Amino acid sequence: MRCPGTPIHKKESMELVFATHNQNKIKEIQSLLPNNIQLLSLPDIGCTEEIPETKNTLKGNAILKATQLLKHYGYPCFADDTGLEVVALHGAPGVFSARYAGEPKDDAANIQKLLYEMEQIADRRAQFTTVIALCLNNEIKIFKGVVKGEITENPRGVYGFGYDPVFQPAGYRKTFAELPLATKNKISHRALAFGKLLAYLQYSIR
Ligand code: IMP
Repeated sequence: MRCPGTPIHKKESMELVFATHNQNKIKEIQSLLPNNIQLLSLPDIGCTEEIPETKNTLKGNAILKATQLLKHYGYPCFADDTGLEVVALHGAPGVFSARYAGEPKDDAANIQKLLYEMEQIADRRAQFTTVIALCLNNEIKIFKGVVKGEITENPRGVYGFGYDPVFQPAGYRKTFAELPLATKNKISHRALAFGKLLAYLQYSIR
């Protein structure tokens, strides 16, 4: 897919914007990038607004955010979107994961609604999906990470955020909220998607 913007060539140093306001995420990803890529956050480029997520797919939202950023600020950039997809709920809450129980965004209310919707449902299969859209060199590249697992009957654990207390990844007997963050960060949907992005960047910008 094509996207507008200034081409970046190998061996040049470059600034790359990550569509996030979260400096911790920036630091984490920056530490994994080659020295010639400087990662910038939205505040770093003077963007204080929330970029709209108005599409009905994770990929659509990631592309929308990245292309809006490129259009308005002119930087090569990437954006991510994540959702929890439950098989018995036909993929819900999916792209609506953040606001499943309505406004304002509330993790505890989302979990409560999910467990209510799944009462009496034996099939607990679910997955987290992260999609990243990268606008670079006049192209949009998509990177996806998926972790399969199941929804527990009750919330367990105190770590993490969002649906972590009710998501037990396949092969583990603990929820994401019971596993140390270091373990979650090795196996999560986000880790897988970012791993693919980083491999691409390391290969294409050296
Ligand atoms: P975002 O696209 O990263 O903002 O994620 C959207 C929503 O998905 C969040 O508000 C959370 O409810 C949920 N979510 C995303 N990632 C995770 C995760 O790693 N654990 C639990 N919930 C998550």
